Amino acid sequence: LENGLARTPPMGFNNWNTTGCTATFNEAFVIGIADKFVSAGLKDAGYTYVNLDDCWALPSRDGNGNLVPDPARFPHGIKYLADYVHGKGLKFGIYSSAGTKTCNTNGFPGGLGHEQQDANLWASWGVDYLKYDNCNNQNVDARTRYTAMRDALANTGRPIVYSICEWGRTGPPKVWEWGADVGNLWRTTGDISDNWTSMISRVHTNDDLAQFAGPGHWNDPDMLEVGNGGMTDTEYRTHFSLWAEMAAPLLIGSDIRSASSTTLATLKNTDVIAVDQDALGRQGTIVSAGGGVVVYNKVLANGDRAVVLLNENTTTATVSTTAAAIGLAGSPSYRLKDLWSKATSTTTGSIGASVPGHGVVMYRVSRGDAVPNRHEAEAATIGQG
Ligand code: DGJ
Repeated sequence: LENGLARTPPMGFNNWNTTGCTATFNEAFVIGIADKFVSAGLKDAGYTYVNLDDCWALPSRDGNGNLVPDPARFPHGIKYLADYVHGKGLKFGIYSSAGTKTCNTNGFPGGLGHEQQDANLWASWGVDYLKYDNCNNQNVDARTRYTAMRDALANTGRPIVYSICEWGRTGPPKVWEWGADVGNLWRTTGDISDNWTSMISRVHTNDDLAQFAGPGHWNDPDMLEVGNGGMTDTEYRTHFSLWAEMAAPLLIGSDIRSASSTTLATLKNTDVIAVDQDALGRQGTIVSAGGGVVVYNKVLANGDRAVVLLNENTTTATVSTTAAAIGLAGSPSYRLKDLWSKATSTTTGSIGASVPGHGVVMYRVSRGDAVPNRHEAEAATIGQG
């Protein structure tokens, strides 16, 4: 959606993957997350949006038809929370459904037929991001429902990132075929769960959709599970690497108030984040696949390539490609930076690694005849001194 927003994939937090609808999801929790964004350096790493998911409202609208924050969870209301989050230099997001009710069985009110009233209320609270779900949609055409909220958000005059949560469920036409005119991102899959099989299947559902992604309009294979405990640290690094390679939104979904140092290190890998946030806005594509190993390639704004060597087997495998296969040819040598170990090396063209089971090796590949950027040139000079 060309509303000036999400020129790179949104980065932030959403509570759903850690709290669901439980009572843990409340004002103190959200304030704790915003505080941690600042204290743990997540804000400095680029994470901006602190977003609420389902279950923030009461089951009934008030006498004027307005949504009402649940006073047990949010005793000071939602504007108070938005103000708090803004006070930290962050942005604030909310959730509803393009149906008569949200997805939760408690039956919270949805936005269908209330688009302008709800958009106006959110704008008055200072909302910067809306995730708009697909439950209880009464079989009204998806594009019609999501377009109604797009227009309502625009009418408020407030810049609000618009996240379509339709899961690629209906069509043709599929949401990725009309999404760029309607939203800033759209879910391409059903819900992720905190396990390897679920995570890797989101990736492969998203594999063929690269042509639909770009600045302002992104495929969304769902939110991050990094740190929730159902995968190994190796698997979480794979998860994070692949989301960056896919130019996916990076919405943290674990309780970072108590995150381990390993979880924080994964989420704060600035080299991997830079691949996700690259200004060209390309989604990575498959170069080769077979025998449980896959090579992904993402073209970056400065001509570099981000390569993910993925091993889906449970035991170590060699995964390899070439400079020519990733569209870099004609240079006498290429520079590789391993974005997790930070080791650098050069090659005349073969690019490969021994990759642990369920692991990745992720390289940034540059032409050896290109002028290194200033930072690298300075580092090289210091190294020689
Ligand atoms: C379905 C969505 O896909 C999830 O991400 C979450 O928002 C739940 N609904 C909330 O009920």
